[in-house]
Amino acid sequence: MQSPNVTIEAAALRNNLAVVRRFAPGARVIAAVKANAYGHGLIHAARALADADAFGVARVDEGLRLRAAGMAHPIVVLEGVFGADQLDAAAAHELQLVVHSFEQIAMLEQYAGTYRFAVWLKLDTGMNRLGFRSEEFETAHARLAGCAAVTTLRLLTHLASAENAGGLETKLQLDRFRALCGSLRLERSIANSAAIIAWPDAHGEWVRPGLMLYGASPFAERSAADLGLLPAMTFATQVIAVRNVGQGEAIGYNGIWRAKRRTRIAVAAVGYGDGYPRCMHAGAPALINGREVSVVGRVSMDMTMLDATELPNVAVGDEVTLWGKGLPAERVASFADTIAYELFCRVAERVRREENL
Ligand SMILES: Cc1ncc(COP(=O)(O)O)c(C=O)c1O
Repeated sequence: MQSPNVTIEAAALRNNLAVVRRFAPGARVIAAVKANAYGHGLIHAARALADADAFGVARVDEGLRLRAAGMAHPIVVLEGVFGADQLDAAAAHELQLVVHSFEQIAMLEQYAGTYRFAVWLKLDTGMNRLGFRSEEFETAHARLAGCAAVTTLRLLTHLASAENAGGLETKLQLDRFRALCGSLRLERSIANSAAIIAWPDAHGEWVRPGLMLYGASPFAERSAADLGLLPAMTFATQVIAVRNVGQGEAIGYNGIWRAKRRTRIAVAAVGYGDGYPRCMHAGAPALINGREVSVVGRVSMDMTMLDATELPNVAVGDEVTLWGKGLPAERVASFADTIAYELFCRVAERVRREENL
């Protein structure tokens, strides 16, 4: 085994897509594979998710990579084009474009090519990131509806807090969306993973799961396992040294952690150079041969120390799981003040990848 390594299970991705379909029966699925499929590997993940109805990427170049790999699905570019110079490539590869600004509308109005784009008009219903605000919607809609470069027009919005089940912010966003476009006979897409599970009202014709496809739960109080999701990524390494330290001895850089008792330290071959966050707090869980241990001291570039006092037989070569099978990334993420999304995306290129079909 070369350490550290990351294993991506295609079977888990397929299982999780089936879970999406159970929660949102009747809706078509745009599988979010942006950001290298949340660090899972764009092409491998897309192939495993070939049953999806479409793929969602953030940027045109991600769509082009999917096409270069032979993916023929509809591809939705969730941030649309960043400049008119991207329209030709988007047209040549039949990418569907989210349109969230008047600048993007102007680009389409001035487009001289013969291709006709499928466009998703994005509404800002409260996230205040991308999209047309309520007062801009009518103009934006009229201009796109009358734009020669546009064929199919659909509607899209993004929810800021859908993981807060029953939360007022989401109710408000859904109300705004309905008030603006409830009377239009256009297909809609609203729901991310959390909304697919917690807001059936938000399903519309198309749902856009990301996180749940990768097997993580969007909710603090509901585990992925409870939702039927399987972790697609397992990040693992091995123990490369074991030592015993006495009570009061300091471990690692800056001596930020001191042993309160005689402690057995297992040194794992993983560090922030591999994407394991340097800010990981002491106490963060990891598994050695399936048994839970905790991080101690400062994570270094290539190594992390684990308190293995309870494992008398721990030895060089033992397998260490940082997250994945047996240890949800959501749980680990909280010890680095982040979310599973970011942990997945951080895994460095230097980490060896294995893709199980
Ligand atoms: C516009 C858009 N749609 C869908 C998603 C998928 O969201 P999630 O990973 O929470 O399911 C994202 C992710 O950030 C997004 O930005």
